[in-house]
Amino acid sequence: MNFEEAKALLEANGQGHVLNFWNQLDAAQQEALLAQIATIDFNSVNMTKNLLTAKSESAAQGEMVPAPVAELAGEHYEAAYRSGTLELRSGKVGVLMVAGGQGTRLGYDGPKGCYPVGPMSNESLFYFHARKILALEQEWDTTVPFYIMTSQGNDAATREFFAANNYFGLKQENVFFFVQSMWPALTPDGKIVMDAKDHIFMSPDGHGGTLLALEKSGALDDIKKRGLTSIFYFQVDNPMVEICDPAFIGYHTRNMSEISIKVCAKRDPNEGLGVVVVRDGKSQIVEYTEFTPEQKNERTEDGELRYKFGSVAIHMFSVDFLVREARAGLPIHVAHKKVPFVNEAGETVKPDAPNAFKFEKFIFDALLDAKVSVNLAFDRTLEFSPVKNAEGSDSPATCKADLSRKWAWWLEKAGINIPFDKDGYPTIKIEIDPCFANSPTMLAKRIDEGKVTIDAQSDIWLKA
Ligand code: UD1
Repeated sequence: MNFEEAKALLEANGQGHVLNFWNQLDAAQQEALLAQIATIDFNSVNMTKNLLTAKSESAAQGEMVPAPVAELAGEHYEAAYRSGTLELRSGKVGVLMVAGGQGTRLGYDGPKGCYPVGPMSNESLFYFHARKILALEQEWDTTVPFYIMTSQGNDAATREFFAANNYFGLKQENVFFFVQSMWPALTPDGKIVMDAKDHIFMSPDGHGGTLLALEKSGALDDIKKRGLTSIFYFQVDNPMVEICDPAFIGYHTRNMSEISIKVCAKRDPNEGLGVVVVRDGKSQIVEYTEFTPEQKNERTEDGELRYKFGSVAIHMFSVDFLVREARAGLPIHVAHKKVPFVNEAGETVKPDAPNAFKFEKFIFDALLDAKVSVNLAFDRTLEFSPVKNAEGSDSPATCKADLSRKWAWWLEKAGINIPFDKDGYPTIKIEIDPCFANSPTMLAKRIDEGKVTIDAQSDIWLKA
């Protein structure tokens, strides 16, 4: 694209200001700006612009009731578990991790997946996810292809991190990185925000962008070529996730579900979890930002939260559904945010208050197109402790403590006496490499085999 073409395109779309500083740029900056303009899909920009003038909904509206949620126990659990292991053994399951977000709340510059969470080792989120997949491959004598969605800002660093760590033991040919699209942010009057004289501010298009990115990148073709029929989906920020939990896989396939959602009871009414509901007869997730305080706090007669179950973004997808949905027009969600911008003097300003709108698609909106979907409850203390904030709840400190506690419970089950404090957390640090043991049963087996001697008076670190 040359200057004249860029100018015509921008002016036709009411965005001529993007070239305001053109004459102050050197040749390299001009070239970079033209290249960036060429990546922008102006149809999408105009679509997002129209959203700014549309009437905004202040509450989740429509006829809405809490969605049905299954809890598996006894023979139902066993049956689902067995089906899941068969799927795994036959190599029909892949894993998809979304890691394209910017980790703004955590205040960490690199890809969030590089963030250290190992209570003893300081190993990264990526380490734990990859090692769990390797452990599954070893346990079920199978291959579990790993698809990782990044975004422009963290793709190179993510790939380098995996390469530098030798893919944590996974085979490189089974790890597939793909990049999601980016969208510009808009001012309240629909103008693209520049964050430097030569640069348009862009942010990832939300994990709803996964569907199209899977197709465009060739990842979906790879999934089909390998004959996978189900995909286990999760977010990079939760190292407690039980990747490819066989019971969840089995529950999904036995119900011939197209999307299955793992849900847990919300910690409190204001916890930032999307809630599973049936609205106007359709199963869906309503994001926490779209619930009013009244809706969040509504209680049933027995005092329970009416909208009790939240989604922690652990899903199963059928591959047929992913193929069908690849080009689905998911709704676009608008968020008012602080976006750095260049002022008239050409200086970059970091605003103190929200000044512009960012746009995102949410993958769970695909639920509206699913013929069958199911929700399965799980115990959050065993599977969910995300790293979202630098401090306080859902922070590295709470995540490390929860990891140690989970492994402490595994050790207790295997007959080791662990010291706990009054809040139920171990007084020692504990870490178990997933390739040493990826479940309480596996850990008990290793201990019975005499693979390790444990002194529960000091910190415990079990490595493969
Ligand atoms: C998210 C879910 C929420 C769920 C909660 C559980 C959304 C909109 N909401 O909230 O329903 O209950 O997690 O922890 O996701 N990501 C991308 N690309 C993007 C945006 C995000 O890959 O463009 C990834 C991030 O890397 C991260 C995940 O999606 O792994 C979640 O994003 P985040 O913005 O942190 O969502 P939450 O507000 O925590």
